[in-house]
Order: sequence, then C-alpha cells, then structure tokens
Amino acid sequence: MKFTESDRLLAMPPYVFSEINAIKADAEKRGIKLLSVGIGDPDLPTPKAIVEKFVDAIRKAENHGYSPYEGPLEFRKAAAEWFEGRFGVALDPVKEIVALIGSKEGVAHFPLAFVNPGDKCLYPSPGYPIFQTSILLAGGIPVPIPHRAENGFLPDPKELEALIVEHKPKYMLLNFPSNPTSAVCTKEPLADYVALAKKHQTILVGDLAYSEIYYDANQKPVSMMEIEGAKDVCIEFHSLSKTFGMTGCRTGFAVGNPSLVAGLLRVKTNIDSGPLLAVQEASVFALQNAERLVAPLRDVYARRREIVLKGLREMGIEYFEPKATFFVWAKVPGNRSSMAFTKELIEKQGLVVTPGSGFGPEGEGFFRIALTVPEEKLKEALERLKRGIHG
Ligand SMILES: Cc1ncc(COP(=O)(O)O)c(C=O)c1O
Repeated sequence: MKFTESDRLLAMPPYVFSEINAIKADAEKRGIKLLSVGIGDPDLPTPKAIVEKFVDAIRKAENHGYSPYEGPLEFRKAAAEWFEGRFGVALDPVKEIVALIGSKEGVAHFPLAFVNPGDKCLYPSPGYPIFQTSILLAGGIPVPIPHRAENGFLPDPKELEALIVEHKPKYMLLNFPSNPTSAVCTKEPLADYVALAKKHQTILVGDLAYSEIYYDANQKPVSMMEIEGAKDVCIEFHSLSKTFGMTGCRTGFAVGNPSLVAGLLRVKTNIDSGPLLAVQEASVFALQNAERLVAPLRDVYARRREIVLKGLREMGIEYFEPKATFFVWAKVPGNRSSMAFTKELIEKQGLVVTPGSGFGPEGEGFFRIALTVPEEKLKEALERLKRGIHG
C-alpha cells in the first residue's frame, strides 16, 4: 500500500545527494574503487580523554534516566563559562542557554516555535541544506539570501535590507564560518546585520558550528552575541561536533535572547527528552578543556588544507581561501555544471566531491572538498582530480 505523504514532505526540494548516491552505486557496481572527499564528518576519532569521560559517565546508574529537557545545569554552566572565555560575553545558564541533541536538531526545531504557515524566512544560499528544509517543514516560505563570490560570500547589507523590506521575514539565518563556502564574517558586517534585524524587528539566527576550526588565531570567528544589543533579537546555535570531533555524540547548545531560547525549549519538551546524560558529562569535560583538545585537531586540518590548496594552485583551479571550517570551496573548471563535473569525476576517476548546486542555486559553478580524510588520501584525491580535469 502506498500512502500520500504530507504536503510539507512533498514540498521538500529534490535531494541532490541521492542522485550522487545513485551514481556512486553504479560506479561501484562497475568495479570502480571510490575515494570520497565529499563528506563533512571528521575521520579523526573523538579525543581519547573525552571518550574516557563518556565511558566513566555511562557506567553510573544516575546517568541512565531521562535528562532535564534543557540539559543538566552543569552542562549549561560549562557552556556559559566556555562562551565567556572565548567570546567575552556573559550568559545566564538558566535563561539564555539550552542544550541540544546536536545543533542540527536545534536549527530544525527552531522554526516550529516561531514560524506560522506562510511566514517567510531568509536563509543563506549557498548554505547547509537544513536551513531551507527546516523552514519548509514548519510551513514557512524560504527566501534565499544570495552569498556571492564578488562579496567574499557575505550578504550585501543593502541587498539584505531590500529582501527584509520586501518579504518581512520572521527570521533571517546566517552561518559563519560557512558550510560550504568557508567564509568568515568579521565584527563589522555582523554589526550591520544585527542592526538590520533590530531596525526591522526580525529575529536573527546564527549558526556557529565551525567557530573553533579556524586557521588564523588573529582572526577567530566572532559570535553575534559580541555585538551590542544582540541579545534583543538573536539566537545562535553552537555545536561540539566539529570542535571536538564528537559528531556521533549529538551535543550542542543554543544561546541568546531568553524568549527565543524558551520558545525552542517548549518545542523540544514536546518532541525529545533531553540529551544523553553521559554525553553531557563528557561535553562538560570537553568545554572545560577546550583549547588543549581542539588545538591538535586544528593542526591536522591546517596541514591538510595546505596540501589541497597547493594541489589546486598547481592545477590552476581557483578557490576561495578558507579562513575556517574543514572545507575548500573551489571553482568548477571549464563550463560544466557542478553536477556534470561531479558525475564525470565519479564515473571516470572514482572521486567523490560535493557539487555546489547541492547547497542552493548560488552554489552553482563551485564544488566542495572536505578535509576529512588523511593526507595520503587527499594526495590521491588531488591526483584523481588532476586526471579528471586533463581528461
Ligand atoms: C553549518 C552547519 N550547522 C550545523 C551542522 C550540524 O551539526 P551537529 O552535528 O551539531 O548537528 C552542520 C553539520 O554538518 C553544519 O554544517
């Protein structure tokens, strides 16, 4: 029997990656050994000290029950302390922080708290696909904010204001450091975006999942909360996934305006029952020892980044120099679409990259390489890429 899916599910855009999966499966059937630099999931294991904390914590019976919906106070206090140390902003762990089962969970549930069917919301293009689909799932109307190469993949404030005036969005979402472009937004443009949100009484949502994977300690990614008055209009999503190589643990948190945090929590109390307590204990340890745990991971990505950038330069492929994230955003050589280029690389070279069009129309003409495989594999990927562009 076949049942009709809901209108909101039918409204989902076609999933570009399922097309790629089909091409990969076909290539494998033909005996091609695939090498993927397409996936944003770190190959590096979670640091041993965090794993040991988790193992100790899961052995304790008091960690076997439900967690508080908002996350244990210990976790929220650790998040507040980390936040103040990193961004210089004090947060109230009771009213201004909620624990998440990964930041994707929070980003996806947030629209259910504040978006009515038919409300418009602005999201980045190119961007992490969930930013668009979470609006659709809440019955909202997603409107892309173009992030163009000529503007360093940041929204142009004038164009953004015109979009706000035209669409009167319930919220606008920005993600810096960006997946997929790797662009970082400094304090000045960020202050302009916060000012626009205040002027037009729009919620500003931030996603800082990659805040700690940066390559220049003098240009660390900034938080919206550093901008004067941001707490009036902003909510910001943070993740331990990339920072500590904890993607499988599902741990993150949202910070910001108390009514926005409370709204998200009300949705969550009706959907989930809080994050695993043992993961929360391990997360407290991670946040309290952040710098010594993240620095080695950052060094690994920095070495990989150098290898890839050098390889691309030698091939004459243009790229946007990543200041943060573990992604390299590069221009598709020649006149092919990003999907045609990706297909050809898989079919002829067994190399999987991510086509820019998978991140929205503004991603066309680009492809993404993830630095989530060891150096030897990256070198092999560059060889395959070279063979791919030279035919
Ligand atoms: C921009 C961005 N935000 C959020 C997430 C989700 O991270 P988490 O593991 O915390 O759910 C990702 C994951 O790829 C991402 O790229």
